[in-house]
Amino acid sequence: MRLPLVAGNWKMNKRIAEGRALARAVAEGVARLGGARGRAEVVLGPPYLALPAVAEAAAGSGLGVAGQDCSPEKDGAFTGEVSAAMLKDAGATHVILGHSERRELLGEADALVARKASAALAGGLLPILCLGEALPLRQAGKTLDHVGRQIRESILAAFPSPPEGLIVAYEPIWAIGTGVTATPAQAQEVHAFIRSRLGEIYGVDWAAKTRILYGGSVKPDNAAELFAQPDIDGGLIGGASLKSEDFLAIVGAALTAR
Ligand code: 13P
Repeated sequence: MRLPLVAGNWKMNKRIAEGRALARAVAEGVARLGGARGRAEVVLGPPYLALPAVAEAAAGSGLGVAGQDCSPEKDGAFTGEVSAAMLKDAGATHVILGHSERRELLGEADALVARKASAALAGGLLPILCLGEALPLRQAGKTLDHVGRQIRESILAAFPSPPEGLIVAYEPIWAIGTGVTATPAQAQEVHAFIRSRLGEIYGVDWAAKTRILYGGSVKPDNAAELFAQPDIDGGLIGGASLKSEDFLAIVGAALTAR
């Protein structure tokens, strides 16, 4: 019942022309795989400056386009910020929020992530809201406590009623960019926990239709076994989204995983 979703997070990579070329290559590749419509959702996440070119290259292909952040505000005196409405105007359909790199490097707290998620949905973008623990928390056996707190403070705090269209990404920080992937069993355990907590909060029907993506060193050779897990509904892909062949192999895994 849940359409798999594979989203690329290009992070601070790709100039405008490179982004356009990568978007074209992914669009062509997805068409060669038989098209994604009705089978999976595929989303590209370029940096802001490449986003309009990527959206133009992806137009008509069915691919979605994600910003990597947005302001919690609508308009006004917020130097350097980009609003959800501006992203939508530039062609975005989704926005990645609360990524651990922003939480850790830029000090984004759950309360800010919650405000951004609320602004994104109000502005017509589907938030891909990231959660996940650092290695010391996992080693201390505190993963579920930590993720549970993030659910309360960055999702429940923003949405007292079920947020239609919200997408969650579980990204264990120790697996991001390290080549160390969570095992399918480790990831499944946390995904099942997230779905059950969301079910307690928003009802089991809402939780059963909500996509929970895994992110952290997803590669062509490990995607299929991750996506085969019952509560893993696709992936948020960093490094492997920068090369069309790798990203398309991961999309292919999502098309056939379940
Ligand atoms: P990697 O796939 O490079 O580990 O990055 C994951 C990520 O942070 C996606 O948002």
